[in-house]
Amino acid sequence: MKILLASSEVHPYSKTGGLADMVGALGKALARAGHTVGIVTPLSLGIRERYPEMQKLPMSLVLPLGQEQIKADVWSLDQNPNRTLYFVDQPAFFQRPGLYQEQGANYPDNARRFIFLSKAVAHLALHLPWQPEVLHVHDWQTGLAALFIAHERKRAAQGNGFRTSDSGLRIFPRTCMTIHNLAYQGLFPAADYALTNLPWDYFTLAGAEFYGQLSCLKAGIAYGDVLTTVSPRYAREITTPEFGCGMDGLLRQRQSSLFGILNGVDYEEWNTVNNPCLKHSYSVSDLSGKTANKLALQEELGLPQNERVPLFGNIGRMVEQKGVELLHPALMEMLQTDLQYVMLGTGNPSVEKAFEELARRFPNKAAVRVGFDEGLSHRIEAGCDFFLMPSQFEPCGLNQMYSLRYGTIPIVRATGGLDDTITDIRQNVEKADGIKFDQYSAPAFSKAIRKAVALYDQPELFHNFQVNAMNADFSWDRTAAEYVQVYERAGQGR
Ligand code: ADP
Ligand code: GLC
Repeated sequence: MKILLASSEVHPYSKTGGLADMVGALGKALARAGHTVGIVTPLSLGIRERYPEMQKLPMSLVLPLGQEQIKADVWSLDQNPNRTLYFVDQPAFFQRPGLYQEQGANYPDNARRFIFLSKAVAHLALHLPWQPEVLHVHDWQTGLAALFIAHERKRAAQGNGFRTSDSGLRIFPRTCMTIHNLAYQGLFPAADYALTNLPWDYFTLAGAEFYGQLSCLKAGIAYGDVLTTVSPRYAREITTPEFGCGMDGLLRQRQSSLFGILNGVDYEEWNTVNNPCLKHSYSVSDLSGKTANKLALQEELGLPQNERVPLFGNIGRMVEQKGVELLHPALMEMLQTDLQYVMLGTGNPSVEKAFEELARRFPNKAAVRVGFDEGLSHRIEAGCDFFLMPSQFEPCGLNQMYSLRYGTIPIVRATGGLDDTITDIRQNVEKADGIKFDQYSAPAFSKAIRKAVALYDQPELFHNFQVNAMNADFSWDRTAAEYVQVYERAGQGR
């Protein structure tokens, strides 16, 4: 199959979160399975310098954006014979220090930036010489591309569309829209809809309009041929008012085209052996390197080196979704006892300050690093005994799966992909690999942490958890095959 993926961030070129990991790894896995894969993404700051071998394509883009015409170049980078990156080079839009925001404030022209990106994506889907059969867009930033394709298809059906290939026939790519997070809806004032240059017929309750505003995500949900989200449980959750963020009605209407496919892990990257980010290799049959990584992490972060004290870690965007409002009170209580805590994250400036303050209050027990640091994220995953994810909601979550592979026991709230990927002892004594709690409250979370401390005091049982965790398999090949089935389904029409 010939598949074009589109995302505002792709690992290892640009990244703020799991979206980048997912799209990068999906592209790799599809290509490994023999499909032809292209990935469109913005040429963000610093990428060209890191990959000077990329080539400028002979095609340059001139696309309308409301009253203006905006130009862009496209650079390509062949990753292997059947996987090519296409970087949309529009310096005024994409050569910026942040992908979406700076210092916690969204860029004021995000509507222009991402409507333009979606137009560029649709243009490439229609004009790349290898004629992609599937366009797979991710989240709100490229959601409108599904509508642009639907619109072109409709015009062609009415005899107004362009005709390209020799036979004069144009096969329009079918579209797949993946929702990584329904809470980010790409909402802009209605006036920004004019930037799409589409007729206003699509700006309706059944289309791109959401309570009087433009929603780029809703456009993708309404016009994508098929929809997916990143875990089976989240696929069910988002059709309910509690998790539906106001879009559950539309999602229920589209339920027969909505599939929950659990993300995979790129085990080439998240690997405990010969990993350049880690000081010591280890494996399920010999965990001594894990202890050495723990001592090294304590040293790196300025905590007392002690292999016996249970070490809890936490990495991620410091935002409400991730349960920061539970984390802080639970830690204030738990740090009175004998444990250590390390955190790496960025996000809401007031949350960053609160956690830095916590580290100042417990200098021998807590270390907090504000910033984005790929290498340190691996060392935290490897060096800790437990990993904390008390999310309010979690479409999939990747860190709990990375933790499993690193033999670090995840403590998660039973929601979305966290519930789908972790086995609690109450579910299966033999196969337990993590600790789950249900209620979204600080006392419930503190109780889960106390269970972890008790587990740590039973070395044999703790070791069983680690063995189960490290043997859990979330490899991408299975996941990629599920996407191919969904792409096939998209061809069967709506
Ligand atoms: P989300 O996409 O909601 O942020 P995920 O668990 O799916 O959550 O993925 C987060 C990804 O981003 C993981 O690869 C995680 O290690 C990485 N990450 C998040 N914050 C940081 C940070 N401050 N430094 C390094 N990596 C980070
Ligand atoms: C989103 C979700 C996260 C998911 C990631 C990759 O950022 O918040 O749960 O793992 O996308 O799909």
